[in-house]
Amino acid sequence: MNDLAGKHIVLGLTGGIACYKAAELCRALIKEGASVQVVMTEAAAQFITPVTMQALSNRPVYGSQWDAREPNNMAHINLSREADAILIAPCSADFMSKLLHGGADDLLSLMCLARPIDRVPLLIAPAMNREMWDHPATQRNRAQLQEDGCTVLGVGTGDQACGETGDGRMLEPQELLQDVVAFFQPKVLAGHHMLVTAGPTYEAIDPVRGITNLSSGKMGFAIARAAQEAGAEVTLVAGPVALPTPRGVHRLDVKSASNMLTTCVEYAQAASIFVAAAAVADWRPALSADQKIKKDGSGQTPVLGFIENPDILATLANGPRALSGGLFCVGFAAESHDLLAHATAKRIRKNVPLLVGNIGPDTFGQDDNALLLVDASGATEIPRNSKLALARHLVADIARRIAK
Ligand code: C5P
Repeated sequence: MNDLAGKHIVLGLTGGIACYKAAELCRALIKEGASVQVVMTEAAAQFITPVTMQALSNRPVYGSQWDAREPNNMAHINLSREADAILIAPCSADFMSKLLHGGADDLLSLMCLARPIDRVPLLIAPAMNREMWDHPATQRNRAQLQEDGCTVLGVGTGDQACGETGDGRMLEPQELLQDVVAFFQPKVLAGHHMLVTAGPTYEAIDPVRGITNLSSGKMGFAIARAAQEAGAEVTLVAGPVALPTPRGVHRLDVKSASNMLTTCVEYAQAASIFVAAAAVADWRPALSADQKIKKDGSGQTPVLGFIENPDILATLANGPRALSGGLFCVGFAAESHDLLAHATAKRIRKNVPLLVGNIGPDTFGQDDNALLLVDASGATEIPRNSKLALARHLVADIARRIAK
């Protein structure tokens, strides 16, 4: 994907050992389509050389407000006017304090103060020792910077270069990249809470065996990510899959359809949108043995009886919250043929305003897919694309429907 195509980012580096991660971040931003102008403080240049950052960004690095390369000698004005965003990573405790007070005694701080505040957003990725991060002064600065309109990205937890362990590490380059990509997405679901199911369910036969299916969970995870990027609070109820949790998403792992139902009923209380993307097993074994079922040497095979699982989507779509208009429900249909006819029938049967059809064998485990959106007035195709691009399309479509 080229999620940052056409975006020009000023990447500011301040003094801290996390500067080594800024090199990777610079590459990641460029790989995602952005152009990057690096600006470094004197302290940052103690940790990583401007030569490295110039080679990675393919542009001369700026460090001084007296840089004679600018014909008008106003690097702080020229660089900030071109930017779609200024991202300071790493942002030291000292630099946070400087930003807060409107200090402007070096090029980077001068540029932040001189930027057109309504047009050029400022994002910072703090990086410091855990005591410095926890200090009331830093936390006060963080809160005030947010009040002033600065986006303060989170910090990581774990081992620190000083040998201590705790909060305050700079987020990893890929995490920062996701946060920057999310920052630029339109906040069409701000104020909403989306509940999403994803992946297969696992129905136990005994403690070591069970019945499941080939759903990868990728579509549901992409929807959770797209909704979070669009400003929604997101709860993702996931069957057994090994996918990473999208940033900022609250994930609850479940196994069986019954677990999934209980969790969904609880979290639907606070949700305004429910997207059922999970491939829920239609049946579960009538009896789940407490102990492993053993071969007894007789050649006899166990006989499994089945019970139908609860329909999670139909339960929520016909519950009081959805019927009173407080929960917008979206279903999925994975079919092998006659997609339109099956999806149309399923939408009516489940009593949902929107049903998303796809061809099962074309989507399971794949990174891309094609969707057919079916509502009361007909069907619209979303052509083949990556699951994340389709998810963003679907999220925008849901936002339009609930805004009506
Ligand atoms: O009935 P079918 O499984 O084809 O319906 C698919 C849709 O219903 C999907 O949105 C799926 O997540 C949801 N579903 C459910 N609970 C079930 C079966 C399906 O929520 N037990």
